[in-house]
Amino acid sequence: MITIKNKKEIELMREACKVVALVYEELEKVIKPGMSTLELDQIAEKKMRSLGATPAQKGYSVGIKGVPPYPASICVSVNDEVIHGIPSKNKIIQEGDVVSVDTVAYKNGYNGDAARTFIVGKVSKEAKRLVEVTKQAFYEGLKYAKVGNRIGDISHAIGEYVASQGYSVVREFQGHGIGKDMHEDPGIPNYGKAGRGVRIEAGMTLAIEPMVIQGKPDILELDDGWTIITEDGSLAAHYENTVLITEKGPEILTILKK
Ligand code: MF3
Ligand code: CO
Repeated sequence: MITIKNKKEIELMREACKVVALVYEELEKVIKPGMSTLELDQIAEKKMRSLGATPAQKGYSVGIKGVPPYPASICVSVNDEVIHGIPSKNKIIQEGDVVSVDTVAYKNGYNGDAARTFIVGKVSKEAKRLVEVTKQAFYEGLKYAKVGNRIGDISHAIGEYVASQGYSVVREFQGHGIGKDMHEDPGIPNYGKAGRGVRIEAGMTLAIEPMVIQGKPDILELDDGWTIITEDGSLAAHYENTVLITEKGPEILTILKK
């Protein structure tokens, strides 16, 4: 279901999204080689709880038999892991790693969702470019997140930009509406045809989230039922914000205002 948020709901969305922004402010400070991905998870969870929010991903179930509920507070996906990496005390972040983190905070009945990819320590030029292109892909899509446009305009802009840079977008996962539910309609693919799909309206809150692979677009799922990796072993990155559509244009809710 597509939900249009009223004034009150927009204020609540702002609060949930601000929690996510504050989590990233903290993670950016603490992330370093030698720490485990579980430590990152614990820091993020503590921060969310201290701000009156809960980690929406913890216990999240896709409702498919045999798939366990998501066991952690955040997703941490390292190098060839694309998304949904499960934090572990045995997974130690190394110098030069590409670390994608996905955080969803639930506060007062509403969700805020954002992802960042951190490059830790000395990193290769190519990894740096991948991370920059992934972030820029979000902004290319954002240009079209305007009243009267269609979701396909966002998708097309992201897909074309990523292809122009020689990388691939993931096709099996997509951005989404967000609100009382973590995943609401409309789905927002990272590729597609301009001029197609749902018309964008003021009061929509959308999680736009390019997932970009350095090599071929194909992915695999690990036996843990969650972790998505690149089939060719190449690096992947993820960048996401929750965006409010207003008559005056898009407003990013998961970045702190200066
Ligand atoms: N936060 C992810 C998204 O951006 C969803 C992760 S699924 C979970 O849509 F189980 F890990 F929560
Ligand atoms: Co999302």
